[in-house]
Amino acid sequence: MPYDPRCQGDDEEALLKPVKVGLLGLGTVGGGTVNVLRRNADEIARRAGREIQITRIATRNLARERICDTAGIVVTDDPLAVVDDPDIQIVAELIGGETPARELVLRALNNGKHVVTANKMLIALHGNEIFAEAGKKGLMVAFEAAVAGGIPIIKALREGLAGNKLEWVAGIINGTCNFILSEMRDKGREFADVLQEAQARGYAEADPSFDIEGIDAAHKLTILASIAFGIPLQFSKVYVEGITGITALDVAYAEALGYRIKLLGIARRAARGIELRVHPTLIPERRLIANVAGVMNAILVKGDAVGPTLYYGAGAGAEPTASSVVADLVDVVRMLTSDPENRVPHLAFQPQSISDIPILAIEDVESAYYLRLNAEDRPGVLADIARILANQGISIEALIQKEPLAGESHLPIIMITHRVLERELNAAIRQIEALQTIKGPVNRIRLETLN
Ligand code: HSE
Repeated sequence: MPYDPRCQGDDEEALLKPVKVGLLGLGTVGGGTVNVLRRNADEIARRAGREIQITRIATRNLARERICDTAGIVVTDDPLAVVDDPDIQIVAELIGGETPARELVLRALNNGKHVVTANKMLIALHGNEIFAEAGKKGLMVAFEAAVAGGIPIIKALREGLAGNKLEWVAGIINGTCNFILSEMRDKGREFADVLQEAQARGYAEADPSFDIEGIDAAHKLTILASIAFGIPLQFSKVYVEGITGITALDVAYAEALGYRIKLLGIARRAARGIELRVHPTLIPERRLIANVAGVMNAILVKGDAVGPTLYYGAGAGAEPTASSVVADLVDVVRMLTSDPENRVPHLAFQPQSISDIPILAIEDVESAYYLRLNAEDRPGVLADIARILANQGISIEALIQKEPLAGESHLPIIMITHRVLERELNAAIRQIEALQTIKGPVNRIRLETLN
């Protein structure tokens, strides 16, 4: 018998009709989604088994110039006209932010509609509530586009790696920060200057402090960690440190020692709990992920069975993000007729199997470190520092001492330590900073070998 993509059952006729989708938002991602759905309509219908049709779009600003052709689609400035439309089966929330996205998504679910969203903040902060509501109604909430734009990392973690006990996830998940750090390294440019360019190119969030302070990456890490380890979404427990303290000097010294500095989101299963942290990190330059440049994203996942796997691609932009939104639409359409109990769970693990493994405080995390300090150039200074480190059980892997910078009386000392508990390092740093011979704070960047 030839393959018949139609589902069998009482509603066979309804199942052959196009699935109607309503869009909230017609900005970069909304416009990209319309374009991809139009351009690849036939291919997408062959995959989904049914045509996917956008029938209504809500946009805050009707006069704004559009990047897509909206012919045949009702465009309104009233989002309720989308979420309350009885013909619409799937609502795609592409407006971003917390409010009114949360209210609109909950209302759409209450109206019996499946939801696709690209909103990382919404899922990181309100995902537990949203999935519980969706679960009560047997509805799907799909969010591939919320993490790393076009890279299908949610699907890889949730389905492709389902046979593994996942050990850790480490990702470059903010394109703006990666662009800034890449430009500082490659062209010796200053931070503020590159940030301005990232904003002009449309990489940055509406409020760029979300990028450079690490908050955007922390939203994405919250989601990745839940799916990797089967734990609730808990954004408030992520240790977050952005890239604003990174200087061109640190980038150059790290380079001299064979490392690159990247803003990493790291989720790791440790003996006493889970590490959940976003911070600038030195990575050996020979690692593939250390060579991910510009606005690209990459996520390294270590599973006990598969070993390390790396996922790379565009982490933002109209069509890369639309690629994930449309894949979610196809997934929802494919599953419209399947029994809700037997679908892939939102957070990869069955809701009753989500476990509350403790999240470790940053002082309980073990890491290697890059330290930069300014010391007086006289005998005994290095010995004092070495003694303090030794007393805290910290051993030094590499050390370089530079000439004083022009106009400076003190000389920079750069050290790489072996792995140590952050609590021990903090105690050592306090003692080093108290030495008469040391000027200013000790600059510290965590280091991960990712092997
Ligand atoms: N501002 C984000 C970034 C956009 O730079 O990665 C994609 O989430």
